[in-house]
Amino acid sequence: MTPRFRAVKGTRDLFPPESDRWIEAERIARETFGSWGYGEVRTPVLEDTALFARSVGETTDIVHKEMYTFPDRKGRSLTMRPENTAGVVRALIENGLASGPTPLRLYYVGPQFRYERPQAGRYREFSQIGVELFGVEGPSGEAEVIEMLFAFLESLGFRDLSVSLNSVGTAETRASFGEALRAHVLPRAKAFGDDDRRKLADNPLRLFDSKDPAVRETLAEAPRTLDFLDDRSRLHHGEVQRLLTEAGIPHHDDPSLVRGLDYYTRTVFEVSSGDLGAQDAILGGGRYDGLVASLGGPSLPAVGFAIGEDRLLQVAPLTLPRRAFVIVLPQGTDDVADATRIAREVRVALPGGRVEVDLTARGLKKGMARASSLYAEADTRGFDGRAMLALFVGERERAAGAVTVKKLATGDQETIPVAELVRRLAAERSTR
Ligand code: HAM
Repeated sequence: MTPRFRAVKGTRDLFPPESDRWIEAERIARETFGSWGYGEVRTPVLEDTALFARSVGETTDIVHKEMYTFPDRKGRSLTMRPENTAGVVRALIENGLASGPTPLRLYYVGPQFRYERPQAGRYREFSQIGVELFGVEGPSGEAEVIEMLFAFLESLGFRDLSVSLNSVGTAETRASFGEALRAHVLPRAKAFGDDDRRKLADNPLRLFDSKDPAVRETLAEAPRTLDFLDDRSRLHHGEVQRLLTEAGIPHHDDPSLVRGLDYYTRTVFEVSSGDLGAQDAILGGGRYDGLVASLGGPSLPAVGFAIGEDRLLQVAPLTLPRRAFVIVLPQGTDDVADATRIAREVRVALPGGRVEVDLTARGLKKGMARASSLYAEADTRGFDGRAMLALFVGERERAAGAVTVKKLATGDQETIPVAELVRRLAAERSTR
């Protein structure tokens, strides 16, 4: 059947067991960040369009060509957030938290929207897991968020990742670096497309976001931000490196890293995974000491990062924790009520396990076919294969107040009273 409706281009649907991996990654994120003192912030998807022009930057690719922007019924220009940092800062200022006690530690999990060309790991609706730390001016801010980030990535099973680091200095650094960059690029810009020529004129730093090989080649020999740093920014950068080394976090300098958003000051960083292709970062972040003030709040230093959840889950070696699984198979429709009652008792004995009833009551043969296919997928679905059970409930069992228990791993089966099954399951659970 040809579907009448399709998901909008660049969006997609997630089903179990894939959605189970998302839930598990988000659970680990909440647990990790929570244990470092971070609390969850939830801000709206819709924001005033001007918020992003002001923070992410008018000349960035995101604001220039990737935003979902539309007038509402009263003609106000709204945008579906392309990222969450601007919204968090807006919320802090609006709710008076930007002038409150610091440090302020927040994280978020949620959908973001960018009109990009869909490809592997890149969507128009995608999800980010992000962290923002406010009120820490020193390099211990970067060290904390990056160390916590690594604790999270290690819990997902990642090993051997390294942080790419750079410093874009202060606004003055960026202005003088921008001029030097323009002077370097200008004589070589004839081969550039319109978009990159616009960047060269408006904000040369944005050329680093270009995918055009001619631009990338020109930039390979361009001046480096690190050569334009003021003394304090240079010192800060050195301290970030030292603290990361001390914390055992692998890192390296990447002088071409400037990140595609205008609000960064000093430290910028990314983590990439080879599995996604050379240019695709799983996550990016940095310091943005001027953003709160530029959006009308007090002077409040900040640092954070956001992980692209879609990309993360594509490459994460994360395995689901094993849980018990029991399928209750009524022989016919007359056995459904009994099967439901037995499932209820078994659930009490198996908290956290999955106990489902074949409500279609299509008979044991079809029920076992389903049980076997679930057993075959035990690993991807996060079931403890050795402990998977099918319970048969039919006339014979009903008469005896019993249930036939079949171990899916071995095929062994026996008929025992329901109370005995419940007792055994509870005992096994306590020894596990
Ligand atoms: P960003 O680099 O624009 O930074 O996005 C962070 C991550 O979101 C990227 O590394 C990527 O994994 C993911 N991402 C971006 N666009 C897409 C897409 N179209 N499809 C799938 N994943 C995508 C920010 O958004 C900043 N707000 C990060 C930050 C927080 N800086 C300081 N605090």
